[in-house]
Amino acid sequence: MRKPKVYVTRELPGRALEMIDDHFDADVWHEYAPPPKQVIIENVKDAEGLVSLLSDKIDAEVFDAGPKVRIVAQMAVGFDNIDVKEATTRGIYVTNTPEVLTETTADFAFALLMATARRVAEADKYVRTGKWLVGWHPSMLLGRDVHGAVLGIVGAGRIGAAVARRAKGFNMRILYHDLAPKHELEEEFSARYVNLDTLFKESDYITIHVSLTRETYHLVDEKKLGLMKKTSFLINTSRGPVVDEKALYAALRDNRIAGAGLDVFEQEPASVENPLLKLDNVVVAPHIASASHVTRSKMAEMAAENLIALFEGRTPPNLVNPDVLKMKPPTRT
Ligand code: GLV
Repeated sequence: MRKPKVYVTRELPGRALEMIDDHFDADVWHEYAPPPKQVIIENVKDAEGLVSLLSDKIDAEVFDAGPKVRIVAQMAVGFDNIDVKEATTRGIYVTNTPEVLTETTADFAFALLMATARRVAEADKYVRTGKWLVGWHPSMLLGRDVHGAVLGIVGAGRIGAAVARRAKGFNMRILYHDLAPKHELEEEFSARYVNLDTLFKESDYITIHVSLTRETYHLVDEKKLGLMKKTSFLINTSRGPVVDEKALYAALRDNRIAGAGLDVFEQEPASVENPLLKLDNVVVAPHIASASHVTRSKMAEMAAENLIALFEGRTPPNLVNPDVLKMKPPTRT
């Protein structure tokens, strides 16, 4: 029996490609860098499904080129790279990979928090570049305590709550902000629901866990940064554009805030010319918060499962646009 064609925009870890091959006639982009948009456009012509990553822009142009596409199965929890509204209008399912990456991402947010607080990257460089000339000095590379400090969580969804769990182990006091209070967080971690301004004013560490939307674009701007204490740190493992990078750079450069731990940037990959990279009080990483062997395999397999589910006549388990169920599906061959 003829298998439906699908396009997969990168080699996937774990068993995902095997799972996909069992059900589909799959074309896979084998290079390390993402396929150019034009390549995606050419490859969706006959495809009924698309497995995408967050670096692929999937919009009306792609859907126009692929009139048979029934599903975009994204291997990521965030899906701001996909025009979901456009997909829904056209009856195209969009799925993501939540939950499997929650704990791994929270681990990394906490790693960045610890690294900025205790100047881990600076200390590493200090030793490697021959600056360690005195064995021990009372004021060498002093940092800030994490234990007992105030943590402000912006976006108290699954990942935000997982960070709160870690913070509790460090005896931190937790403030949080979300669209509405989350009573579980208050009961489990004695977290306090506050407005954003209070959170920015009172926290020693602020960690961002919101998705990128029109409302959260540059949520952390000059004004919010201006509310922070000189001794406070900003950690971002969500999406780069949630933070106004120019304003952040100025605040860090002028020591108006103590430091930042950034896994995400407004432009990815971040250029080595990005001025943030010139600052010692910034710890950076290349968007790897969910990058553990086990989690990345689970994410890829989850994307494969979503894809397979639709073609087996089931509703994909991680559907992000349930309104699609009311729409007429694209023409089938
Ligand atoms: C990673 O950033 C993801 O959205 O999964």
